[in-house]
Amino acid sequence: MKAKGKSHVGTALALRWGDEPLEEAIIRNPLEIGAVTPENSLKWESVEPGRGNFTFEVADAHVNFALEHDLSLRCHTLVWHSQLAPWVEAGNYDNATLIEIMRSHIYTVAGRYKGRCKHWDVVNEALEEDGSWRESVFYKTIGEAFLPLAFKFAAEADPDAKLWYNDYNLEYDEVKTIETANLIDLIRSYGARIDGVGLQGHLVVESTPTQSNPTPSLEVLESALRRFTDKGVDVEYTEIDIRMNTPATPEKLEEQATQYNRVVTSCMNNDRCIGITLWGISDKHSWIPYTFEGEGAALAWDENFQKKPAYGGILQAIHDA
Ligand code: XIL
Repeated sequence: MKAKGKSHVGTALALRWGDEPLEEAIIRNPLEIGAVTPENSLKWESVEPGRGNFTFEVADAHVNFALEHDLSLRCHTLVWHSQLAPWVEAGNYDNATLIEIMRSHIYTVAGRYKGRCKHWDVVNEALEEDGSWRESVFYKTIGEAFLPLAFKFAAEADPDAKLWYNDYNLEYDEVKTIETANLIDLIRSYGARIDGVGLQGHLVVESTPTQSNPTPSLEVLESALRRFTDKGVDVEYTEIDIRMNTPATPEKLEEQATQYNRVVTSCMNNDRCIGITLWGISDKHSWIPYTFEGEGAALAWDENFQKKPAYGGILQAIHDA
């Protein structure tokens, strides 16, 4: 990836080394992995479980692991409706108070890791499928200004970090993609800075009960990326997994390899796509089976940490670029 001008292939990071030496070996192998995104430890419920009560022990361990092993660090995520500490909603705060709560959260978390997070996912998943605003506590209380305000606070807290908006289902080049590109203009119209849009890349090999559209064609993927890069921001596939109805079959695993190849190819073909992050190493620890019942086998290493055809699909896309 680096030889082809990209910055990394990354993975979500959960630090379970006592149990999983094979996972650790892959993540510590610089030929495999060059960047990490803490999977849960930087989320609001983890770092500010009570108002003004910050707990950084677990987050620090993740950040330190990245720095000690020369892994580029993508920090995830400052403002998100999910895995949000319950007090934020339960307090029924007014506009001014919630802005202050958001400012204090961003200053404290992004400030603590200042200079260490190469990228920050500042806001995650602000839009619904139809491109309308998600009715999160932030949107309901502050209005659309919560988004540019979050970016402004993040820039103040860590001026050198690249600031990203991150969301799912942006790969289909449909209304959500278009409305997300408009968010770039919204953020800038408030005088704030945005450096990138992360396409999570939670895709499906085949129609499943939770997602009917399989990974789009190369053409559609490339067009989706261009919606953002045409506006002068970077892009990355930030949380890739391509799931299927389980059990996996050899045919489905081959098709999965083809789709991984397509996703990575679309990144290779766009100069402003900086790289890819897989949402984990092994199918054994993927979030998919816990979240989407009956679905899984979404990553590039199997339950025994053996490379799947998907791994070959990724590698081939890099070689062919
Ligand atoms: C997931 C984690 O992988 C799980 O361990 C956790 O239980 C729920 O969140 N979009 C995101 C990620 O931005 O933070 C989510 O990660 C997956 C969907």
